[in-house]
Amino acid sequence: MRRIGILTRDCAGINACIRAVVRAASFYDIEVMGIFRGYEGLIKGDAKILNRRSVSGIINSGGTILKTARSQRFLTPEGQKQAVKTIEDNDIDGLIVIGGDGSLTGAHLLATQYNIPVIGIPATIDNDVNGIDLAIGVDSAVNVALEALDKIRDTATSLERIFVVEVMGRECGYIALQVALGGGCEDVLLPEKEFDLKKMCREITEGNSKGKVSWIIIVAEGRAKAQNIADKITDITGLETRIVVLGYIQRGGSPTAVDRIMAARLGNFAVELIKNGHRDECVGLKDDKLITVPLEVATKPKHIQVEDFYRLIKILT
Ligand code: F6P
Repeated sequence: MRRIGILTRDCAGINACIRAVVRAASFYDIEVMGIFRGYEGLIKGDAKILNRRSVSGIINSGGTILKTARSQRFLTPEGQKQAVKTIEDNDIDGLIVIGGDGSLTGAHLLATQYNIPVIGIPATIDNDVNGIDLAIGVDSAVNVALEALDKIRDTATSLERIFVVEVMGRECGYIALQVALGGGCEDVLLPEKEFDLKKMCREITEGNSKGKVSWIIIVAEGRAKAQNIADKITDITGLETRIVVLGYIQRGGSPTAVDRIMAARLGNFAVELIKNGHRDECVGLKDDKLITVPLEVATKPKHIQVEDFYRLIKILT
């Protein structure tokens, strides 16, 4: 293994992971070629050699120095063949892909259908990579959301209002669940759980009659739109509501210690694996131990346990 390519999505901790890959590879005398703009850049041959200095001073920055893009062309056999041509033309012996479900699905495809040695590193705020505990970026996203929530709470309490706060998470309610428990919220709507809106409104009305006047309800974007839920609460309870959609602020920003440390460990581990002939695997942490999961498994739907946390949220309300 003389030269590896690296491509990424974006979220907090990915730059720290690029740094770890480049420097670990350099330690093992492997050259790293940075592929710009994800699979689209792989198709176009948008690539350049990265050295130890190219990744100086990025451990604490958000986003990705490699830029990223969604690629429709990579979904076609022509696009895939062009991507493989870039790999061959640039003497890339193996590929490290850092990203979530879509990126890792592309990695699995390159490994299985085009025989490219690929290792995936999970990095997505959705935490929907199967078989591992936590993806890079999740901890930072949860902390950003909590910081915002603390500010929302100030207004909720002062004006005695109901707030419905929408957080990211398409198919996985992980962020929503963590934020609801860590932020001391009254309720949470998750893609993984049936929800009884009338019951929640009864609780609000009952609480209101006993003097409880402010509520914060978290909604995972994959479950419902905050505005719809807020409108229904107002219709049923007659109480005033406000909404906040946290959106992309959760994906950006400086990575937390948890994300930086995980990025360092997973980046180095991925380089060691690819060097030792592993392929079509995703690295990750389970109970704080470095593990690998076949990419085929990593890209299957992840089922998170929600009941214990949900019960605790309701006990502590
Ligand atoms: O994968 C993370 C995520 O932030 C999702 O929660 C969200 O739905 C999606 O990405 C939106 O990303 P984009 O606008 O880049 O397609």
